[in-house]
Amino acid sequence: TTVSAILAGILSRHGPRQDELLPALHALQDSVGYIPPDQVPALAQHFNLSRAEVHGVITFYHYFRSAPPARCVVQICRAEACQSMGGDRLLAHAESVLGCSLHGHSADGAFALEPVYCLGLCASSPALTINEAVFARVTPARFDALIADVNQ
Ligand code: FES
Repeated sequence: TTVSAILAGILSRHGPRQDELLPALHALQDSVGYIPPDQVPALAQHFNLSRAEVHGVITFYHYFRSAPPARCVVQICRAEACQSMGGDRLLAHAESVLGCSLHGHSADGAFALEPVYCLGLCASSPALTINEAVFARVTPARFDALIADVNQ
């Protein structure tokens, strides 16, 4: 089923009243994981809004995503203890391995790289999380091994 067909089904259940836009956006994100930008024109037409107005609603609510969610979220601790114990080097390594900077996504969208501020593992820094699993004393080599595990 194409995204357009999914959206058509959703729009058939949400009449063209403008207060139905938000429920339709929720339904679309629930179905396909995000709001594909190329569906904005169809949404605008259905709800008799401009594309800019629909885009404005999507960007106003942080809940809505305009790109597929990352398969893997990597959070690097940026708090003091980790920074003083190789956190900067670890971050630089992660940025080069994933090909993105902090707050970014890898080119294929699979990885998101985010900061986190203290995971309570300061005695075993530097620390990070991968999809919410916590790892301590992460060297660049260990980082590579953890990412390789995710990619398997
Ligand atoms: Fe990184 Fe506490 S400063 S775990």
